[in-house]
Amino acid sequence: MSVASAGTWFVRLAAVTVVGLMCVQPRASAQRPQAEPWDTALALRTPRDLNPDPGVLEIELEALTAEVEVAPGRRIKAWTYNGSLPGPLIRARVGDRLIVHFTNRLPAPTTVHWHGLRVPIQMDGVPGHSQPEVKPGETFTYDFVIPDAGLYWYHPHVMSAAQVGFGLYGAFLVDDSDDRVGVATERVVVLSDVEVSDQGELQDPDTGGSTGMAFGREGNVLLVNGRNQPQVLVAPGVTERWRVVNAAKSRFFGLDAGGLVFTKIGGDGGLQEYPVTQELLVLAPGERADVLITPTGPPGTTLSIVAQLIDRGFGSTEARISEELLTLVISGATPPAPMPVPAVGRTIAALERTGAAPVRVEFGLIQSGPRREFQYTINGRTLGEFAPIQARVGDTQIWTITNTTPWSHPFHLHGFFFQVLDANGAPVRPLEWKDTVNVPFKSTRSLLVRYDDRPGMWMFHCHVLDHADGGLMGMVELTRPGDTRPAPPHVQH
Ligand code: C2O
Ligand code: CU
Ligand code: CU
Repeated sequence: MSVASAGTWFVRLAAVTVVGLMCVQPRASAQRPQAEPWDTALALRTPRDLNPDPGVLEIELEALTAEVEVAPGRRIKAWTYNGSLPGPLIRARVGDRLIVHFTNRLPAPTTVHWHGLRVPIQMDGVPGHSQPEVKPGETFTYDFVIPDAGLYWYHPHVMSAAQVGFGLYGAFLVDDSDDRVGVATERVVVLSDVEVSDQGELQDPDTGGSTGMAFGREGNVLLVNGRNQPQVLVAPGVTERWRVVNAAKSRFFGLDAGGLVFTKIGGDGGLQEYPVTQELLVLAPGERADVLITPTGPPGTTLSIVAQLIDRGFGSTEARISEELLTLVISGATPPAPMPVPAVGRTIAALERTGAAPVRVEFGLIQSGPRREFQYTINGRTLGEFAPIQARVGDTQIWTITNTTPWSHPFHLHGFFFQVLDANGAPVRPLEWKDTVNVPFKSTRSLLVRYDDRPGMWMFHCHVLDHADGGLMGMVELTRPGDTRPAPPHVQH
């Protein structure tokens, strides 16, 4: 992009940002609600299990527009699963079979994608490769066995930026009863944002045109389990386990608990090799974290958790302020005797990189046409023009992803976990299984992925969903050795 055009889009970007900030209603502290226990105010609904078999979770899931309350008295009309924002918490165990009777009552086609879960391709929710779009009024049955423990999530894969931005997402917790974490208080925390007017109307998902796309549109109201700046009652000195997912379509979350440390014990695909402590917990869109936190203090003390600004590229921190995300209120419970934070972990074997086939992917940004519209590119190809990457069942690939653009891109691969490598090509320690990793602006990340026996067309994309729609979306075509490869459906424009 040229320097001259950079000036223009900075002004346009700044305008978008300022308008975004002005939409946030000032909150007088006198209007603050009384501290409400998480369990009543913030608990996530779980769907009714229609199947008496303890190894089968059979549920109904409906996508529909519904009015939801994001703050006391502040209602918005959102796109929801089963009428709530976020959608119901799906909770199961490894090896359970999940059957979801899905109905689309939205005014637009949709699908459900099970982010991070190693499902068969027919269940992956990508129109044209997994299933047809589910049109308004239609139904689709998802049916698969849950392979791995961890926190996952679900969301649509049709007009994803718009539909996720309107409120369509939910958490999916797969318990592992042998994980030895031994922390009784567990909370699932769904972070997101939504762009609404003061009247509570959802804003146009295309604001700012291709400049808005290039940046990645953020919402102006931060949500924690669907509530803006909630207060959560916690017992002093009691270690809690938080399972956190960033379900926002563009926003990066940096959680700062004012010096209270997060002990991170796991990530996208379950427990990591060993715990690490951190004061700032950063989650790019799509990522998850499994953390332990021990709030302490006299009864009535409040501890703010602030969403710090994270530099994800041009315009993401300039002229913006960090915002309060949630407040912990210390209850009057008697603190237990101090206990060491459990040292949990699991053995993860580093993937063998010898013989791994190299895959090179470069994310770029161009401006074209009379209006100098932005488009993202993968290896120089714009949306839909990138030929699928070929892979064989049993293969290991080493991907090198270079981001030449001024914005960060959380890379996400459907269907498979990967291990991130450091600058020297060794796996990043502690080892962990990931499906989403941030590739910061003007930098490179490498990862190793091994393909198990689930052939199909698997998508990869940036999880800033505007960026995916704007060109950062491609396919891996996984075939079994011996299968004749169909000609890649590459269309020459
Ligand atoms: Cu959250 Cu295509 O994924
Ligand atoms: Cu996914
Ligand atoms: Cu991106």
